[in-house]
Amino acid sequence: MEAIIVAGGLGTRLRPLTVNAPKHLLPVAGIPFVGHQLAKLAEAGVARVLLATSYHADQFEPELGDGRAWGVELVYATEEQPLGTGGAIRNVASRLESAADEPIVILNGDILSGHDLPAQVQHHREAGADVTLHLVEVADARAYGCVPTEDGRVTAFHEKSPDPVSRQINAGCYVFRRAVVDKIPPDRVVSVERETFPGLVAAGAMVLGYVDRRYWVDVGTPATLCRASSDVVRGIASSAAFRAVPGELFMASDASLAVGASASGGSSLGSGSFVDVDTVVEGSLIARGAKVGAGSHLVNSVIGPGAQVGSGVVLRDAVVGDHAVVGDGCELLAGARVWVGAHIPPGAVRFSSDM
Ligand code: GDD
Ligand code: MG
Repeated sequence: MEAIIVAGGLGTRLRPLTVNAPKHLLPVAGIPFVGHQLAKLAEAGVARVLLATSYHADQFEPELGDGRAWGVELVYATEEQPLGTGGAIRNVASRLESAADEPIVILNGDILSGHDLPAQVQHHREAGADVTLHLVEVADARAYGCVPTEDGRVTAFHEKSPDPVSRQINAGCYVFRRAVVDKIPPDRVVSVERETFPGLVAAGAMVLGYVDRRYWVDVGTPATLCRASSDVVRGIASSAAFRAVPGELFMASDASLAVGASASGGSSLGSGSFVDVDTVVEGSLIARGAKVGAGSHLVNSVIGPGAQVGSGVVLRDAVVGDHAVVGDGCELLAGARVWVGAHIPPGAVRFSSDM
């Protein structure tokens, strides 16, 4: 079986973490995010994955290689100009090897999901469907594609509706009959959510919902990225790519935690990172080469690669961009984001503004 991952978005909501890297390669439990998806696809019997990239396209192949490490063959395709989700899928159609009636798995490249993918494919095959969408339920559907169904058949697709008609949403994992991929118009921007799905439903195509309410998260914001990483580390979300024993902390082999410092809540310490004495790290993600000084307290925060956090610093729900410096005694709370390379002077107390 073949799969396509659409991985060309700008990751705007994750800035500044996505200034120098695509969100799909941000570390989650010590692994570039898309690695979790590749391992899940391999486990479900997918042998060949086409990765549709655009933003920071050159960074994917050096990180992911030929795919063998994840159990798949990986084929890279880059859009010169982003073509949208549907355009990205259509852009790789000529490189698919499957026959017209074969199922193709298509994934948004920012979804961590525990759903039963083989069961979704089987549902699609048995029904002879055109497209089968994985659906989940969320408390607030406004930020998603709202997908009402009747007897398992999708009756409408409302992308980011301010007034959603149901709490059932598109979970970003589709099975397409290959011939349906070929019918997307070529060489122009197409949104699969705003154009392809509503068009298929209006034309009476067989578009099915596959409801599976197991673990699911879109890692598109710092809060959800942090949560996904901590859930994988603690074993709350399972990932075939994560080979360590689940627990309170994941540390790269060359990361260091000083005696008297503690890290828990599924925190993750990247390669070459360092946490100094008496510092407490909870549910946080510390990227490669980042340093945290003594007596600091980090909760649900993300520290970018090479950033330096001083001593006696409090970070709660904060993001520190690559190579930024946070001075001693700073307190950054409630969604505060420190820009790439910024220097926050010692003792600054900031709440939720961008810096
Ligand atoms: N190659 C390519 N080119 N990929 C793109 C492009 C593009 O022009 N635009 C977006 N993508 C990729 C993103 O990188 C991401 O992996 C995926 O398409 C979805 O884009 P997001 O920007 O993450 O969309 P969203 O989270 O707001 O909404 C989507 O996901 C929701 C589930 O999390 C939609 O599919 C919703 O319907 C869905 O509910
Ligand atoms: Mg998303």
